[in-house]
Amino acid sequence: MLAHSMADTESSPRTERIAARLRQVPLFAHLTDAELGRIAAVSRTRAFPKQSVILFESDPGDALYVVLGGEVKVVLTGEDGREVILSILKDGDFFGEMALIDDRPRSANVVATVDSMLLVLRREDFQACLEENPRIAFGLLRELSLRLRQADDKIGGLVLLDVNGRIARLLLTLADEHDGLSMPRTVTHHTIAQMIGSTRETVSRTLRDLQDRELIRVTRERIAVIDRAGLERLASTR
Ligand code: CMP
Repeated sequence: MLAHSMADTESSPRTERIAARLRQVPLFAHLTDAELGRIAAVSRTRAFPKQSVILFESDPGDALYVVLGGEVKVVLTGEDGREVILSILKDGDFFGEMALIDDRPRSANVVATVDSMLLVLRREDFQACLEENPRIAFGLLRELSLRLRQADDKIGGLVLLDVNGRIARLLLTLADEHDGLSMPRTVTHHTIAQMIGSTRETVSRTLRDLQDRELIRVTRERIAVIDRAGLERLASTR
């Protein structure tokens, strides 16, 4: 049973609203209405303003978070304040599972990049939820495999590609997350630098170079992919 079971609690409009929202979260999408209702009843929603730190690296882990609205970045910060962005998570994504699974401290900081609304599920409720629903455990494993693949790709890119290749690869990924053809300029040069382990100046210079080679077009609002095959060649590690 969930630690704070809803079995004997009336469902409220709030619970129903959250359960409906949870149905759109891939990790929970296959649950029954009753199961979603139980999770909704024991979890809470919490707003985090832009730039607020949601989790601190090395803190003990006491909850799982689901992004209901907004965006967060998973970051490691060096002693000198430099940051590397490990991942950007959006609507429907979850985080904070690692410390709950392996009982070790948080592996990274998680920071809201825009005003965000999160669902917070306490450790014991998350664990009960996994025990009650093996399919959630399987969904979690799938997502962890995907994240490991992405991390492998990133390590491969850092070792095997130059900055051109790393930027080409990131641009293709970001374009694919939008319409496949372009991405909004909300992704700043500074953010791109933090995602590929480079500097803002190098990113600006490389983007100009890619534009001169007619691989991309940079406008005030968007970065458009002009020559996909050309970018793919640069981004290839084989
Ligand atoms: P936890 O270690 O509890 O707290 C930080 C969270 O950041 C971690 O759980 C994951 O949910 C998330 N995280 C850590 N590394 C990555 C990564 N490489 N890609 C995506 N998410 C990550």
